[in-house]
Amino acid sequence: MPYPSFARMSSGDVKALYVFFMNGGIAPVPQGNKATDIRWPMSMRWPLAVWRWMFAPTPSPQEEAPAGGEGQAQLLRGQYLVEGPGHCGACHTPRGWTLQEKALNDTDGLAFLSGAPVDGWLAKNLRGDAVDGLGAWSQGELVAFLKTGRTTHSGAFGGMADVVQKSTQHLNDEDLHAVAAYLKSLAPRDAGASGPLVYDETASRALRAGSDKSSSAMVFLDNCAACHGSSGKGYAETFPRLALNPVANSDDPRSVIHIILKGATMPGTATAPTQFAMPGFDWRLNDQEVAEVATFVRRSWGNKAPAVAAADVARVRKEFGAAKAPVR
Ligand code: HEC
Ligand code: HEC
Repeated sequence: MPYPSFARMSSGDVKALYVFFMNGGIAPVPQGNKATDIRWPMSMRWPLAVWRWMFAPTPSPQEEAPAGGEGQAQLLRGQYLVEGPGHCGACHTPRGWTLQEKALNDTDGLAFLSGAPVDGWLAKNLRGDAVDGLGAWSQGELVAFLKTGRTTHSGAFGGMADVVQKSTQHLNDEDLHAVAAYLKSLAPRDAGASGPLVYDETASRALRAGSDKSSSAMVFLDNCAACHGSSGKGYAETFPRLALNPVANSDDPRSVIHIILKGATMPGTATAPTQFAMPGFDWRLNDQEVAEVATFVRRSWGNKAPAVAAADVARVRKEFGAAKAPVR
């Protein structure tokens, strides 16, 4: 329950939620509480009081309409939505060893929204980094992503598919633009990192000429190229572009491994109802092949991310209930 984020919410919004829940917005049902499945010692409740005392912020609701020009008002509205009701940091900000978010807002430090693992996916860096952040995204692309679950170069998956389907697609355009403007104002996590990646034709030419006979190229051609293209450029709003894609270029490879093993389905939204899907390859590719094709994707067309090892794949396969590796 992300109450450290909700501590930012205005009294007016909290009261409105109360009225919505209590006055018919949510119909009552006869449903007993489920028994908890959290085991001792995590099931003890008193340590939470200590945790709250150490890490939960004193509620500091944003009550006043912000002063300043229109641009400033938009940024503050975006900041409010991201830090407060949107609780984007609950997934996208890394946590310390006692599971507190390392930063609850941008003034707390560059850890804010700098990327964190959640349920076997990487809720990736949303700061201004050119390679693995949102540095190369325009404000309009962000709005499209939050509203439709896709852009000309990417699709929402993992926990983000739920976020778009159940939450952000319902925001009005003004609020979506505010969120996007605020995210675009965040400085990169790593100011010294190299600039944006540049598309490189080498892999695309080799695949089309059939001159790359490596097993990783073969696994890519057999399993991925039909949708993502030998150019790695995909098809707008349908099959994401893998070339220069921040998901593919994140240091942490877990989303790439996870999506190859288990596939993913785009959220269906009011403005983009078609749920394009990627099949899972857990039953078809063994750990070595998944590692090879993941590395191929992370090193081709100008991408520059660290290689993936078969042991990384084995771990994800076991942890997230994928089918056993095929025996050859
Ligand atoms: C339940 C956890 C969760 C919450 C809450 C969440 N996200 Fe995400 N988000 C993810 C995951 C996991 C991904 C990686 C999958 C993907 O790219 O769709 C992601 C990806 C994204 C991306 C795509 C970035 C890229 O380069 O592909 C954007 C943009 C984004 N989130 C914005 C937001 C915003 C804005 C909020 C708050 C309104 C938010 N997220 C809240 C889990 C979450
Ligand atoms: C049938 C078409 C299809 C095939 C085959 C396919 N994909 Fe995908 N891929 C998709 C779709 C659709 C998405 C978007 C899924 C979503 O947003 O839920 C996607 C998403 C991805 C992403 C995340 C990109 C992003 O930013 O959203 C990666 C990485 C990826 N695929 C890699 C691969 C690899 C590697 C293979 C081969 C092993 C492969 N895909 C095979 C259709 C396909």
